[in-house]
Amino acid sequence: MDTIDFEQLRLPKHVAIIMDGNGRWAQLRGKHRTFGHKAGAEAVRRAVTFARQKGIQSLTLFAFSSENWKRPEQEVSVLMDLFFTVLKREVKKLHKHQVRVRVVGDKRAFSAKLQQRINEAEQLTENNTALTLNIAANYGGRWDITQAAKQLASDVQEGKLGLDDISEDKLAEQLCLAEQPAPDLLIRTGGEHRVSNFLLWQLAYAEFYFADVLWPDFDEQAFARAVADFSCRERRFGLTSEQVQQAILDTDVTSGE
Ligand code: IPE
Ligand code: IPE
Ligand code: MG
Repeated sequence: MDTIDFEQLRLPKHVAIIMDGNGRWAQLRGKHRTFGHKAGAEAVRRAVTFARQKGIQSLTLFAFSSENWKRPEQEVSVLMDLFFTVLKREVKKLHKHQVRVRVVGDKRAFSAKLQQRINEAEQLTENNTALTLNIAANYGGRWDITQAAKQLASDVQEGKLGLDDISEDKLAEQLCLAEQPAPDLLIRTGGEHRVSNFLLWQLAYAEFYFADVLWPDFDEQAFARAVADFSCRERRFGLTSEQVQQAILDTDVTSGE
């Protein structure tokens, strides 16, 4: 985008996106909702390219929630097929561009064929370093926290961990995306202002950005606007604005800038 100078922006390290609005996008065109999901796959490709080119480290896309199984059977089936085909079609290109692909969520619910495809994609790309693309599928924030708690309980049961050793850090280590920086920017398209059981723990201090644009229309300009908006925000993490400004000055002095 010509009006935004990316060199001057403070970029988020990790962007998470709730890709919402596919169904409405199709319905506005008199088509079936699934037509919108197919168009949404193109928007995914644009977003991944944008993130990679701008030097964002991690991009986490909400593709299918734990609750989305409750949708009509035919829509769920199209979404599963689409996930399979897109993975198959795109993984070589992603690998060529040094993108590491991870699928986060309860994968056991997927067909054996899809699980195999996911494993292959993850293995092929595991050493790539340009961008980590996390696809949240059959993912729910409550599921994530529950599975982490279960892991800690099992460690306690086996005597590997004492009850008093349980801390926020220990629980966080068991969550999906634990090895990546926490998302600093959450974008939701489609005009709704809710979190819909996405990364409940990990978004504790993320900046939220809501866009009215429906997901299939989310393009480079829309992504750039979200990043530019993020760049202007003051993140206080519970401190006062004065403390934050002082900390910035102190860092500049110690780093000799
Ligand atoms: C997001 O678009 C994609 C998925 C949840 C799989 P929707 O399908 O929720 O589209 P709307 O919100 O109904 O328009
Ligand atoms: C959130 O969108 C899930 C994904 C984008 C995959 P939904 O469309 O499922 O969320 P609600 O139902 O509007 O809260
Ligand atoms: Mg929706």
